[in-house]
Amino acid sequence: MGQNANIFLRSARVVFLTLWAANALAADDIKWIRTPDVVYVGTPYDLVSKMLKMAQVKPGDLVYDLGCGDGRMLILAAQKYGSRGKGYDIDPERVKASRENVARNNVGHLVEIFQADIFTLDLSEADVIPLYLLPEMNTKLLQQLDKLKPGSRIVCHQYGLEGIEPDETVTMISHEDNASHTLYLYTTPLKRR
Ligand SMILES: C[S@@+](CC[C@H](N)C(=O)[O-])C[C@H]1O[C@@H](n2cnc3c(N)ncnc32)[C@H](O)[C@@H]1O
Repeated sequence: MGQNANIFLRSARVVFLTLWAANALAADDIKWIRTPDVVYVGTPYDLVSKMLKMAQVKPGDLVYDLGCGDGRMLILAAQKYGSRGKGYDIDPERVKASRENVARNNVGHLVEIFQADIFTLDLSEADVIPLYLLPEMNTKLLQQLDKLKPGSRIVCHQYGLEGIEPDETVTMISHEDNASHTLYLYTTPLKRR
């Protein structure tokens, strides 16, 4: 094949991939639903690593991040452990940022991001659920978490599940903010106190 044809094919491939990515990001499925129940604050990366380790994430696991923010939890899990991920956020900006992050980190074959109110979801497919939400949101989620299959892991950042006995509690100082954070691990079926 001549050099000109080669350059043409490469350029066509770049144009195709750019259009494909732009189409994926300019999704028409993102809209205003309602005010989020909590504002976005990202879990520091050293805590994300620790949470994934506590949950013993492994290849093939399906991780659900409820209120996924910028998608960091699912992206790191996919990169480090080859796990699949589904991220849900109600905030259009967060959904867009997560999708951009997934594309930038080349984990689109493992991680999908959806706009949804987490309280409407069926969670029964999930193997691992990291949570960084307010205590009353965790309590409101309990009915859904009770439907997880046995052996699923839930790891909470800062606020645990009220009335449920954790399997492990870890307090650590993050190098990102020099503040103390507490992490709670639960395994299903949940153990009522
Ligand atoms: C504290 S941030 C945690 C972000 C991420 N999970 C992390 O740990 O880095 C909480 C996220 O929940 C989202 N959120 C709040 N209420 C929600 C709801 N009802 N359904 C879905 N997402 C919600 C917010 O938009 C925000 O991105």
